[in-house]
Amino acid sequence: MTESLDPLTDADAHLISLEGIGKSYGNILALRDITMAVDNGRVTCVLGDNGAGKSTLIKILAGLHQHDEGTLRVMGAERTLSSPREALDLGIAAVYQDLAVVPLMPVWRNFFLGSELTKGAGPFRRLDVQAMKEITKRELAEMGIDLRNVEQPIGQLSGGERQCVAIARAVHFGAKVLILDEPTAALGVKQSGVVLRYILQARDRGLGVIFITHNPHHAFPVGDRFLLLKRGRSIGYYEKKDVTLQELTTQMAGGAELTELAHELEQLNLS
Ligand SMILES: Nc1ncnc2c1ncn2[C@@H]1O[C@H](COP(=O)(O)OP(=O)(O)O)[C@@H](O)[C@H]1O
Ligand SMILES: [Mg+2]
Repeated sequence: MTESLDPLTDADAHLISLEGIGKSYGNILALRDITMAVDNGRVTCVLGDNGAGKSTLIKILAGLHQHDEGTLRVMGAERTLSSPREALDLGIAAVYQDLAVVPLMPVWRNFFLGSELTKGAGPFRRLDVQAMKEITKRELAEMGIDLRNVEQPIGQLSGGERQCVAIARAVHFGAKVLILDEPTAALGVKQSGVVLRYILQARDRGLGVIFITHNPHHAFPVGDRFLLLKRGRSIGYYEKKDVTLQELTTQMAGGAELTELAHELEQLNLS
């Protein structure tokens, strides 16, 4: 495996750059010294097991939590994101695993939830149902999502389809950065494939995508760079050309620790 990246070159040119980011919850150190970058039209994967700090990292980027060490830059400007609103206004949209949808409401209602289109003025103002249905249909079609009926309650869609609707929604509302927290974790092979395809669609539309997963087999085919987290620390940060799926898998499985241990044992000169 070659050297880790130097993500600090051109920090200004990145959509988002993190440098030495750390976060504690009381005396629990959830993240420490994290450095990574997110670019237009690139997929940055964050890999790690449970408790690695993946969710903490995206909460910092989505404005739900604030970092207490290091520097976060969004489009070159140093920031601390103090609310989800602030993150959204900067074009950072997060899609969570447990999607905030209203299961009985139709797909189009969920698509526009909180940002409903209206027509008319004053007492004549009402929801522009027709426009919302048409836009939902069009946006989904443009992402290659074939939903027969946007009237269908979103609760009837598969988990994968719901993730895809959420991605299309973020794209429609102007996200520049799309954060996906374990979108494939609860899905089978086929549905995971569908979600992975939409990740590439979002990338091809020029978004910077942050894809969080514990599965290197999902990350490797779609990722341009990979940050590996373990117990809050980075254990590697690679460009795709500098790493193989095998190496990612080995590192995730603690291969690096094993190598280190072997090395230490060697130095003890036990033989
Ligand atoms: N709100 C919180 N309060 C206290 N500890 C937390 C909180 N959120 C996460 N942690 C701790 O921070 C560490 C990283 O958690 P998390 O970011 O959720 O990891 P992951 O998403 O990779 O599973 C864990 O040890 C977890 O217990
Ligand atoms: Mg998590």
